[in-house]
Amino acid sequence: MMAERSMLDVLRKSLKDSDLPFHDFVELVLYHPEFGYYARGASPVGKGADYVTSPVLSPVFSYSLGNLCHEFMSRCGDGLWQVVDIGCGDGGLIRALAGFTTEAQRFFGVDRNLARAIASPNVTYVTSLAEIPPADVRLIISNELFDALPFARLVQRGEQLHELWVTEGDGALDWSEHEADARYEEYFAERGITLDDGQFADVSMEWTALYGEICRFTKRGLIVTFDYGLPQSKLFRGRMRRFGTAAAYAKQRVSRDLLVNPGQQDLTAHINFDDLRRTGEGQAFASLFFDIQAKFLLTLGATEHELFTPIGDLAVDSANEGLTLLQDRDDARRLILPDGIGADIRVLVQGRGMGPEPWRFQTKLF
Ligand SMILES: C[S@@+](CC[C@H](N)C(=O)[O-])C[C@H]1O[C@@H](n2cnc3c(N)ncnc32)[C@H](O)[C@@H]1O
Repeated sequence: MMAERSMLDVLRKSLKDSDLPFHDFVELVLYHPEFGYYARGASPVGKGADYVTSPVLSPVFSYSLGNLCHEFMSRCGDGLWQVVDIGCGDGGLIRALAGFTTEAQRFFGVDRNLARAIASPNVTYVTSLAEIPPADVRLIISNELFDALPFARLVQRGEQLHELWVTEGDGALDWSEHEADARYEEYFAERGITLDDGQFADVSMEWTALYGEICRFTKRGLIVTFDYGLPQSKLFRGRMRRFGTAAAYAKQRVSRDLLVNPGQQDLTAHINFDDLRRTGEGQAFASLFFDIQAKFLLTLGATEHELFTPIGDLAVDSANEGLTLLQDRDDARRLILPDGIGADIRVLVQGRGMGPEPWRFQTKLF
């Protein structure tokens, strides 16, 4: 038998016997332990890499969350608290948050693949929530975790819901359509969603499964979820989203060509935030905040960061330093402007057992 030497070998072997549901294709190309996109040692996140996330874009993101951490700790009393970043990637955010306190053994980074996690004395990295020691109260953070979960691609054809699968023809990957798995029919029926004829939709059953697991893990605490996503009334609106939201990212470019360069490009779809909200509320979590990232960071004092110092008060020693500072200030602004990453990413905060006092992030801005 020939050894598999690339993601294409893995796919060809898998497609020899039958087509693959697109969901299973995504699982393979993102998370195959050897050739998957997220198995690579090099981080896909960064200005010189495939795409930028908020913690990498500007330190203002971790600064604002640091303010939330302090508020959270002040409400924990004598309880043993932990801060956990799920889907932590290289650990940039959890390392920055751990740097705001001197407490050890309280900060955890969780990721399916820890090859990219950068060691830090105050951060413990694990691959599953089950490996984290018990605690009384937890602050759980995730940034772009749920939009990285494998998803299915559905399309309405007349009265029938079809599911997209991947096939191989003439040596190239191509689409095929099958009657959708009954779970997806149920997904739309239970939520009262009807798709227009010809409308595509991208859905992951893992959204609720993983969020449910996080809720069970957080007996008392806050769950703060940053992600590309929408409430379901907007996510599945035919006029706006006729072609769904699935996209591929490589080298800072977005494309709709989901089958090319398997394992070399990220595949992602917007999440249904109502799935997360309802799952939490079903486990007695109160929904405390749901809005765009820009507003959330502003309420947490983002503009108190030194990158927002008035330009006239700044002293720079060289032209290069000045240029770097201008770029850094620009990146910081991108986080809090109501467009791009500031508006496309939404934040859901749910809490259980943390008392009735309002949080700083609930301050009305205007
Ligand atoms: C888009 S990256 C975001 C990385 C980081 N949070 C950031 O903002 O730069 C998604 C990360 O989630 C991880 N991931 C995906 N599914 C996961 C799961 N079920 N549990 C833990 N991590 C997961 C991936 O390995 C990847 O590192």
